[in-house]
Amino acid sequence: MAIEKVGVVGCGLMGSGIAQIAAQAGCTVHVREVSEERLNKGLQSIEKSLSKFVEKGTMSASDRDATRSRLHGTTKLEDLKDCDLVVEAIIEQLPEKKELYASLDKICPKHTIFASNTSSLSITEMAFLTARPDRFIGLHFFNPVPLMKLVEVIRTIATDPKVYEEAVAFAAKVGKVPVQTSDRTGFIVNRLLVPYLLDAVRVLEGGVASIEDIDNSMKLGCGYPMGPLTLLDFVGLDTTYYIANIMFDEFKEQRFAPPPLLKRMVLAGWNGRKAGRGFYDYSDASKPRAIQLG
Ligand code: 3HC
Repeated sequence: MAIEKVGVVGCGLMGSGIAQIAAQAGCTVHVREVSEERLNKGLQSIEKSLSKFVEKGTMSASDRDATRSRLHGTTKLEDLKDCDLVVEAIIEQLPEKKELYASLDKICPKHTIFASNTSSLSITEMAFLTARPDRFIGLHFFNPVPLMKLVEVIRTIATDPKVYEEAVAFAAKVGKVPVQTSDRTGFIVNRLLVPYLLDAVRVLEGGVASIEDIDNSMKLGCGYPMGPLTLLDFVGLDTTYYIANIMFDEFKEQRFAPPPLLKRMVLAGWNGRKAGRGFYDYSDASKPRAIQLG
């Protein structure tokens, strides 16, 4: 069965990107947010991204219009009732997800596949909150979704192999490169990325180098598009702190333990770009300046 109708729950940073690329790929998409205000904010970010593609000539105006026509915003979960696939991209809190999956289970027909975009919670645990653990997978996209080419497709011990194949085919259909992995906290990317980001904070905290020099080292010495501290600001210090704690809890390995400086910056609310301040100050968004640490 080819996936034609897609539901996306959550129209934040990740959900809006997922809804956008699915609509771009020709799927009919219903994206749901809890309030009109949040929905409009998400739809505006999709509009902005589509405009950028048209401006750059990577998308024609008629493709943009066709994408728009396939994309439907809603605040009603019931509007996702006919979907072949529902991708959940809501807050990373199990109680909220539990409530959502209980409702989706009632609303969606038996054939609907459920996918979570979680970066750190257990796919297995969520699968068994539903009456269809065999039709539950992880689809982990990367920020910014319209640009990043990777999707991790995550299977559990209960996933039906045919469902997994359909999910891999869907990831390719939406223009991404799927990588296949099993349900272990952090999957592939965060398993490797999170210790690297935490180490960058340890290097800073240990007085080895300045914020700019750490970032320039990895950008210019290793060809990374962003230095680790810039990337931490981009992903969100709170998000990384949260993921690191879950990974530490799972593996009990020191390399996943968030360093004290990261914790203190999160306590201060210096959560990165979205907060206007992280390792850099974004008061002038076009010229971020490294902060002075006391
Ligand atoms: N839609 C369309 N176009 C976009 C866009 C979007 N959402 N976001 C940025 N662009 C465009 C910009 O407008 C810009 O266009 P231009 O060339 O005409 O100016 C172009 O993309 C490049 O952007 P920038 O000039 O701002 O900056 P970069 O050249 O550095 O590229 C980047 C931006 C693609 C984000 C690049 O820096 C990059 O790849 N960074 C690393 C991102 C990364 O590692 N993401 C993964 C995070 S981990 C994660 O998501 C997992 C989670 O579980 C934690």
